[in-house]
Amino acid sequence: MCGIVGGIAQRDITPILLEGLKRLEYRGYDSAGMAVVRTGELQRERALGKVAELEAALTRRRLNGRLGIAHTRWATHGKPSLANAHPHLSSASVAVVHNGIIENFEPLKARLEGQGYRFHSDTDTEVIAHLFDSHYREQHEPRHAQEARDTLLAAFRATLGELHGAYALGLIHRDHPEHLLCARMGSPLVIGVGSGEHFIGSDPLALLQVTDRFIYLEEGDHALMTSHDIVIFDGEQVVEEISSDMPQSPDAGTEQLGAGRRALGARPIIRYEHGSQAANKGDYRHFMLKEIHEQPEVLRDTLADKLTPEGTLLTAVLGPEAAELLPQVRQVQLVACGTSYHAGLVARYWLEALAGVPCSVEVASEFRYRHVAVQPGTLFVTLSQSGETADTLAALRFAKSAGYLATLAICNVPGSSLVRESQLRLMTHAGPEIGVASTKAFTTQLAVLAWLALVLGRQQGRLDDADLAEQVAALQALPEQLRQVLELEPAIAELANGFAEKRHTLFLGRGAHYPVAMEGALKLKEISYIHAEAYAAGELKHGPLALVDDAMPVVTVAPSDTLLEKLKSNLQEVRARGGRLINFVCERAGLVDEEGVRNFPLPKVPELTAPILYSVPLQLLSYHVALVKGTDVDKPRNLAKSVTVE
Ligand code: G6P
Repeated sequence: MCGIVGGIAQRDITPILLEGLKRLEYRGYDSAGMAVVRTGELQRERALGKVAELEAALTRRRLNGRLGIAHTRWATHGKPSLANAHPHLSSASVAVVHNGIIENFEPLKARLEGQGYRFHSDTDTEVIAHLFDSHYREQHEPRHAQEARDTLLAAFRATLGELHGAYALGLIHRDHPEHLLCARMGSPLVIGVGSGEHFIGSDPLALLQVTDRFIYLEEGDHALMTSHDIVIFDGEQVVEEISSDMPQSPDAGTEQLGAGRRALGARPIIRYEHGSQAANKGDYRHFMLKEIHEQPEVLRDTLADKLTPEGTLLTAVLGPEAAELLPQVRQVQLVACGTSYHAGLVARYWLEALAGVPCSVEVASEFRYRHVAVQPGTLFVTLSQSGETADTLAALRFAKSAGYLATLAICNVPGSSLVRESQLRLMTHAGPEIGVASTKAFTTQLAVLAWLALVLGRQQGRLDDADLAEQVAALQALPEQLRQVLELEPAIAELANGFAEKRHTLFLGRGAHYPVAMEGALKLKEISYIHAEAYAAGELKHGPLALVDDAMPVVTVAPSDTLLEKLKSNLQEVRARGGRLINFVCERAGLVDEEGVRNFPLPKVPELTAPILYSVPLQLLSYHVALVKGTDVDKPRNLAKSVTVE
């Protein structure tokens, strides 16, 4: 989805903006652009396609300035085109970058056209530039610096006051080379705090090359920044005022302001915990592959604050209200999108089996528009890697007034909207996930959900000490078992050579491995563009068997569980129709390789952790098939990492 980066510095800002755009590429986009202010001139360059195109354009026509904004666009209003690429300008003096959707752009556009403004794009964003310009012109000519600042702020507030919808905005003005304006309403925006320079970004990752200190703007905030100062407003009220010469606190986390500075504390500076290396590929060919291989380590990190080595469940991580709320949980409603939704589907099996708690799972885009019947004592749980997915966020906002017992976010991004707006939270510590196809975020979500099932199982009196110890041991053994599974990679890579020719694939599983099969099919679709469908293996006879022939690979997830024998019968049905089987199977299942049947043995693991382990070879399969096909693995066509618009 769209990405914003901007900054005001005492050096040329353009390389910083360009690097920021490159770091935002993973989010998915179709065009890119940049605008800078230099000695009374507003310069802009845009390009259709990749940031590399913009970079090439910038070598032909160099921009240079200390104040600038830049953007990667993912088309919503208006097709991908140069004219629709951001930044959008007004009167050669105002430049705007915007993420989100301005719902009332049509009446605003009509009014501005009536005032004589000419539009050069089909975007909703262009109205913001003209609207600001019209309000700016209503202000009287500023006579000194303070008046100039007030003029900008007044015009900006008047503009924001007229916008309906969602936005994260960055705005600069030709005649104000010292001022960067920004605002957040329904779309994420952070301020990157530097020393003698400050930045904005729709994602902290865009700015890690220049700072690791961030302020997460709240809904409705706007800010005025110079290279030295940041002032954040909620309406006309100053909620934070920060100067870049403040001392840094030695013990990181939330920093304090220096003496003599206003320290309202309402918008703390948070140090980014993962370090700038986390967003690098290292020696791996793709982020996705790196992220697949990080899973043993990040699973260990994710469990570290939730489980002592002795096996005690640390429920305090859920937040201070947990002790009071957990005993009241009678049901669970899980809501998510994409891969996170599949994690929820797996968790339903755990929550019902281990905790005896009825559980429903639904995609957020459906849930948010449904008239739901809420049972007393229902815990509403959102699952999201980014914490910014528009539908999931809307579902949470709806749920808050729908009579649920409490809201819990399971998320990978600490400062995200979902985390901040939920009563309880559980963090996955997967580190930044850059590949659009989610891998480590999925398995860490599963680990957290398994932990939650144990917590609720204990709470409901369904797990005695011995049961709990057994399940905890299963979770603790996971990182090492995952390492063993990753050793299957060369064999899977070899198989992928023959697979890449295929046009359709079936994925089969039973029980908790049915959603694992769904996730495997989604991965293959996302990055290799091969049509893949997942079925509960028991449903084969009810339709999909008609598709099976020797051109259709059938991938099965076959751990050694209570359903293994039934699954084996389903596999016979496939074989009898000449279907070719690729089985990810428990080493003790007794399946043997033969013509048309290829088995990949996995270690025998407890039922609780099998879905986590069996997800990994499916990730490797889709990765290697995509590699053979030569697709853009980390940035598959038409997809975005974080879907921040509906
Ligand atoms: C997009 C991504 C998926 C992700 C889904 C939900 O579609 O491409 O990988 O699973 O959004 O994202 P979330 O951040 O809410 O988990």
